[in-house]
Amino acid sequence: MKLLVTGGAGFIGANFVHYWRDRHPGDTVVVLDALTYAGNRASLAGVDVDFVSGDIRDESLVEGLLRERDIDTLVHFAAESHVDRSIHGPDAFVDTNILGTHSLLKAARTVWLKGSGTPHRFHHVSTDEVYGTLAANDAAFSESTPYAPNSPYSATKAASDHLVRAYHHTYGLQVTTSNCSNNYGPYQFPEKLIPLFLINALHGRALPIYGDGQQIRDWLHVEDHCLGIDLVIAKGRVGETYNVGGGAELANLTVIDTLCAAVDAAFAADPSLAARFPDAAAAKGAPSASLKTTVADRPGHDRRYAIDARKISDELGYAPQRSFAQGFAATLDWYLANEAWWRSVIDGSYRDWVATNYSAR
Ligand code: NAD
Ligand code: DAU
Repeated sequence: MKLLVTGGAGFIGANFVHYWRDRHPGDTVVVLDALTYAGNRASLAGVDVDFVSGDIRDESLVEGLLRERDIDTLVHFAAESHVDRSIHGPDAFVDTNILGTHSLLKAARTVWLKGSGTPHRFHHVSTDEVYGTLAANDAAFSESTPYAPNSPYSATKAASDHLVRAYHHTYGLQVTTSNCSNNYGPYQFPEKLIPLFLINALHGRALPIYGDGQQIRDWLHVEDHCLGIDLVIAKGRVGETYNVGGGAELANLTVIDTLCAAVDAAFAADPSLAARFPDAAAAKGAPSASLKTTVADRPGHDRRYAIDARKISDELGYAPQRSFAQGFAATLDWYLANEAWWRSVIDGSYRDWVATNYSAR
């Protein structure tokens, strides 16, 4: 296969490129990424890919890549992805998530559907947030749950899902879509809950819990997400959507308490951590949980997400390969072993973002 991976320098995209290189070494992988604040070339260090720095909204660039590199499979991750940012500034979300996806669809239609047509696949990566929020006893999101996006982020992802669907229905573009739950793992930008709280705990900074901390997410290790996408590309039915979940519905406070206890245990087991991170509560003999701080809730905060993954399990044989405990332990190890990666991130654009947003909460 010859893949074009958009957003391949972001969190999930980079993990997907690592995953694909390991599992499908004979394939060609081209990455297209605009290297926004969330994109990091270092996340692909040492990986054999053809990296193109560019914007998905550049339709002629994408047409050229599809044609000249003879691409047969486009895997679309590129997006503005952080809910809090979408609340502060929705325009970038409309531009990238809606107009950017539409630009890709137009390029794919031009190159792949002209003349007798070229065998191809357009795989769109989306989110469970398009389904809105669940009450405690509601059934989990299935592929037939009506769309009810609540944040500017999820509204723009919903719009992009509809465009992808329409390009299949109207023009016959060979599309699949996956809607997944909260990912965690290596290379995640430290604005999202798990890496933000880990790095804050290592620096002895407050852990800002929105509202009562009882919001529920279904945590999915990023490699399990990559496995799900691989199965959809290999065996998924064209025109269909598949929900991908981790089978790990947890309240935020449970995740945060797990994280604090794991950091404390790591410091107890390895005395060199106290020297590396002298400001950590754990380095001073205090529990990391002492850093927990309640802050104002996120406006429009969705209460609960949960994925019904029966369709992808029954049709394609998907099952997450790790529990949250295993996935989280591996993630903590990765962040402790890859300080250079996250330091380069927090010393750059992230620091500016913290200064303007985080301190204002
Ligand atoms: P991310 O923010 O970490 O990375 C996004 C990447 O897209 C970055 O590398 C960025 O440089 C690139 N990008 C942004 N705008 C671009 C543009 N105009 N042109 C080219 N590249 C551009 O995001 P992520 O967490 O890796 O999410 C990837 C995809 O998965 C997104 O579509 C997101 O909606 C979806 N998703 C994420 C999660 C999650 O938990 N992180 C869950 C469900 C779905
Ligand atoms: O469900 C899939 C979605 O998961 C993806 O589509 C999004 O791209 C991804 O960012 C993620 O959205 P969330 O809003 O669920 O993730 P986030 O890590 O921002 O927050 C997780 C939960 O933790 C949420 O209930 C808000 C809460 N939170 C988050 C932050 C950053 C806090 O309590 N404090 C914080 O500082």
